[in-house]
Amino acid sequence: MRKIFILALTFLLIFSFAASAEEIKIGSCIYRFNDAFMLRFRNSMSAESEKLGAKIELADGQDNQAIQNEQIDSYILEGVKVLIVNIVDRMTAQPIIDKAKTAGIPIVFINREPPLEMLNTYDKAYYVGAKAEESGTEEGELIADYFKNNPDADKNHDGKLQFIMLKGQNGHQDMILRSKYSVEAIKNAGIEPVEIASAIANWDKLQAMQIMNGFAMSIGPENIEAVIANNDEMALGAIEALKNSDYNKGDKAFYIPVVGVDANASALDAMDKGEMLGTVLNDADNQGTAAVRLALALANGTDLKSIGYEITDNKYIWIPYQKVTRGENK
Ligand code: GAL
Ligand code: CA
Repeated sequence: MRKIFILALTFLLIFSFAASAEEIKIGSCIYRFNDAFMLRFRNSMSAESEKLGAKIELADGQDNQAIQNEQIDSYILEGVKVLIVNIVDRMTAQPIIDKAKTAGIPIVFINREPPLEMLNTYDKAYYVGAKAEESGTEEGELIADYFKNNPDADKNHDGKLQFIMLKGQNGHQDMILRSKYSVEAIKNAGIEPVEIASAIANWDKLQAMQIMNGFAMSIGPENIEAVIANNDEMALGAIEALKNSDYNKGDKAFYIPVVGVDANASALDAMDKGEMLGTVLNDADNQGTAAVRLALALANGTDLKSIGYEITDNKYIWIPYQKVTRGENK
């Protein structure tokens, strides 16, 4: 009789433990599913959630803030324990933070950084990402190093660097700061940068290709000494366009150094083929892992010191960027 009782109790305990572990549900909104870097980010969050026995639901905001707002409303109605939000328009974070606060649900923003004044209105609002200026600086350094080590890179021999800038979506911190700090790093390396053209291509490969086709036509590839793109997809679009002009196909006499950010597999491929100079690792694995661990610790009320990532100012987890080249080792 006693044995049966203990057995029943054990089952009850196991069952209730499993049930409560399953109960932790993360509601996550992604600004747009059709984005190569955010796909890596999603995969990382799904893997970490599974590892920790939590359930993560992912919603596609389709680059539309109104759609994303509805998704957040339904997550709150559904009773998710925590939100992870890759906000479409980072300047409109306030009403979303207010909603989470009213519902008593912690909220972790990722990849698109809301202003600190907004994060500061809720003690359970956080941001997990990477410092945009760092990636810009590293991109600029890649170009500056190439220019210094390859005298022929100064095609018109004026000692200055004539470059084209391809920018991501307007208002994104990575668009603003990568554009600024890449140029800053070139100056700091003692080279005078000259922007011969720039355009917004919204992180998108096809848009970048079309824009670059136009620039190659109007400016002439022989007059372009570098292409600095705010991300890899746009760098790859630019490379497609340059190839249309018989540049960047392996002949060093017909080559324009192109740099991006993310270190997506397709960019590493292009670098292996000698079509692309370099990139900067945007560490989706660590950003995704950190976001999920932080979210679950907040949902469970467990010690934030135990998640394995440093939290600064009670608000931020910063994952470092890292330059990636194929230079000397080849
Ligand atoms: C950037 C990334 C871009 C794009 C963007 C989306 O960090 O470099 O490729 O994914 O985020 O917000
Ligand atoms: Ca020059």
